[in-house]
Amino acid sequence: MKIITVARDMQRTIRAEKRAGKSVGFVPTMGYLHEGHRRLLTNARRENDLVVLSIFVNPTQFGPNEDFETYPRDMNRDEKIAEEAGVDFIFFPAVQEMYHDEPSVNVTVQNRTAVLCGRKRPGHFDGVATVLTKLFHIIQPDKAYFGMKDAQQIAVIDGLIKDFHFDIELVPVPTVREEDGLAKSSRNVYLHQEERREAKELYQSLQLAKRAIEDGVASPARIAGMIREHLEASTSGEVDYIEIYSYPDLEPLEKLKGKIIIALAVKFKQARLIDNITMALS
Ligand code: PAJ
Repeated sequence: MKIITVARDMQRTIRAEKRAGKSVGFVPTMGYLHEGHRRLLTNARRENDLVVLSIFVNPTQFGPNEDFETYPRDMNRDEKIAEEAGVDFIFFPAVQEMYHDEPSVNVTVQNRTAVLCGRKRPGHFDGVATVLTKLFHIIQPDKAYFGMKDAQQIAVIDGLIKDFHFDIELVPVPTVREEDGLAKSSRNVYLHQEERREAKELYQSLQLAKRAIEDGVASPARIAGMIREHLEASTSGEVDYIEIYSYPDLEPLEKLKGKIIIALAVKFKQARLIDNITMALS
């Protein structure tokens, strides 16, 4: 496994590998790797000749009052996990390598961002789309792996790949969870003991909604109401949003039909947690 910090070096290395006929699987992350990231790496390892992992805490996707400075980082541990997962290259650039002082071009996302986290975190998905445009040009992957935990991110990247004609297959990977159902996240370390116990209720509330839909409840407002009631009764967190849309278009629904997403965000003292489920309805 090799660690590369310079974009030009990464690009040249990949070009040589591709010329030799190797297929490239890419897993972009912000590091502090956990089981969720590991699942993306395992899938990439299985399906490609080469696996490239990027670790870059991307400043442009954090809002002014968000946790860029304090976002957890542990490169030594990440290296070990990457090695175990069979990663060939870690791309690990400094902020200055990815962003020069005065950028000439930024990517702005037009669709699928007026809802969910996009609405709550203005500019967040512009930062994600900008950094991924750079990373896709540097790594030139055949396949790129993303977790369904961030389902809106996948919807946005789907649009980015299509609009900019990236020759990349987007591979969505199901959310990896703790035993009690809490979605694995680098930010779970911020939870206090009591909050950690309550955090399982996010997934519980989504399961409750799923059962109600399977039992015939077809009104999005009713389902959202049930989830809110459950979360308010069982956690000390503040519900940030509970929203239900078509997926991946993220359009509002009068009635629950077709492929849908039920997504929620809850703010605890030091961490805002998100979760979602998707369902295919007839
Ligand atoms: P990060 O939060 O580090 O996540 C990297 C990838 O891991 C994302 O595709 C995310 O959806 C996936 N992931 C996180 N938790 C997961 C879980 N519990 N199960 C399955 N997959 C999970 O997402 C980002 O970084 C950044 O926005 C990035 C795409 C790297 C752009 O900066």
